[in-house]
Order: sequence, then structure tokens, then C-alpha cells
Amino acid sequence: MPDTLVAIVTGGSQGIGAAICIELLKNGYRVCIADIQELKAIEFTNEQKSVYGEENITTICCDVSKESDYISLFEKTLKKFKRVDVLINNAGIILEENPRKCLEVNLLGTLIGCHTALKYMGKSKGGNGGTVINMSSSAVFSKGSHLPAYTASKNGIIGLTRSFGHPHHYDKDGIIFAALCPFAVDTDLLKSAIKNVDPTSVPMDIFTDVMSPEFTAKGVMKILEDKINGSTLAVLPDAYHYVKIADKLQNLFSKA
Ligand SMILES: NC(=O)c1ccc[n+]([C@@H]2O[C@H](COP(=O)([O-])OP(=O)(O)OC[C@H]3O[C@@H](n4cnc5c(N)ncnc54)[C@H](O)[C@@H]3O)[C@@H](O)[C@H]2O)c1
Repeated sequence: MPDTLVAIVTGGSQGIGAAICIELLKNGYRVCIADIQELKAIEFTNEQKSVYGEENITTICCDVSKESDYISLFEKTLKKFKRVDVLINNAGIILEENPRKCLEVNLLGTLIGCHTALKYMGKSKGGNGGTVINMSSSAVFSKGSHLPAYTASKNGIIGLTRSFGHPHHYDKDGIIFAALCPFAVDTDLLKSAIKNVDPTSVPMDIFTDVMSPEFTAKGVMKILEDKINGSTLAVLPDAYHYVKIADKLQNLFSKA
């Protein structure tokens, strides 16, 4: 079916990314799973093919911190599925011992993803427009003393999402940009976060009162339905909340 919507999910072979892929497939999307772990991605893709159909899923090995990989990801997805409507910039790491790498993957990778989406999905470039969802974190709302590089990268994602969410971009390219900020989710990344945290610096119950990847993935569907450009959706254990970031500050600046 030529008008079946197509989504690319980075970091899609496990954790939250895998749950997002399944949620999209359940909702009738075709999905390209993009991940640096090639074998894991192939294994996950093969499992999903048997449930959702061979023709609806593909996988492409990709390091999101490399621009050439992102270009190739879009080129190959377009070749296979003929269109791309949604990009989920989900891939992310916690690596406080190598802050440069952490920022390269989480922040630069997301920025490259947004630029590449504009290039291939933007209406001014012949695309259909669509939606880009950038994975931030509830770490941006915490005092966050224990994961400075990670928290900086996730705050940066809010900033770049709001920038790309400016009407100037939408009027030209028809792409909605939004950020998702989940609270703690039961994944491998959370386990690595626990190893990095000084237990005296943070209430440890935030690591036990965790959400499922599936509940988090439904936040993606909410953004795709609501289509609020430049928005930030917080996913909390009991609800989804749009967060108005620094409205008061923004008002002060707009009067200056
Ligand atoms: N787990 C949580 O509590 C939590 C909370 C808020 C936000 N997040 C964010 O959600 C996203 C997914 O995290 P998760 O918890 O599912 O972690 P995870 O470690 O289970 O999965 C991360 C995925 O990203 C992939 N990846 C890592 N580096 C990559 C790269 N350079 N290029 C392509 N793929 C790469 C990994 O191979 C893996 O499949 C991350 O951006 C994370 O920061 C997680």
C-alpha cells in the first residue's frame, strides 16, 4: 500500500525503542529499526516480521552520531518503503566517564537526525512533511547532580526541539518537532544509570518505581495524534503531561 505511513526508530532493537517499534506496527505503520547493535536489531526485526509481516519491517545498521550513517539510513528506508513520515530520535546512552561520547550520541546524534529529517521529509525538499520525536528525559526536571553529561544532553534536546519547532520551519517544511521526557523506565539503560549514581545523592525509589517501555511508547502515539509543534511531553508513572518550559522567562525575553 503506497500510502501506509513509515517510521524510522533509532535505538529500536531493545528497551523503549523496541516498544515504540511494536506500538507503531500495531497502529499500522511500516517501521525501519535503526541501531548500532546490528545482530540484536536483526534478531528483533525477524521476531516482529513473523507477527506484523515481512513487508512491514526492515532494519538498518546506523550510528546516530555519524552524519553519513543518517543519510544512508534515510536513503535506504526510502528505497525500501518509498516514503518516511516519522523519525523517532530515540537512541541514547549514559556514559559519564566519556562525556564527549555521551553528548555525541545523545545530543549531536539527535541534531543530525533533525537536519536529515528536514532534508528528506521536508516539503521544501519534495518530502511529505511529518513528525520528528526526540527522546529527552525527566532528568531535565530533576536537580540532576549525579549524571551531568547525560542531563546536559537531554536538556539540549529540549532546546533543539523547541528551535526546530519554531513556526518558521513548519511553514517551510511541514514537520512537527516534539520531545518526550519519560520518568524512569525498566531498561538496560536504567540499570547502567543505577551504577553511575551515588545512592546518597538521589532518592533510590526513583529506580524502583519504574514504568514499562510499553507505557512510555504510548506517549509517542499521543504526540503523533496531538501534533503540537515544539511541545515537550512528560511521561510519568500515572499520566502524560505536556510541560510548558519556562513560559514566564520566555515572556520576559519577548518583551525585551
Ligand atoms: N530507561 C529510562 O529510564 C529512560 C528514561 C528517560 C529517557 N530515556 C531515553 O530513552 C532512550 C532509549 O533508552 P532505553 O532506556 O531504551 O535504553 P537501552 O540501552 O535499552 O536502548 C538504547 C538503544 O540505543 C542503541 N544505541 C546506542 N548508541 C547508539 C548509536 N550511537 N547509534 C544507534 N543506536 C544506538 C542501543 O544499541 C540500544 O538499542 C534513550 O535516549 C534514553 O536516554 C530512558
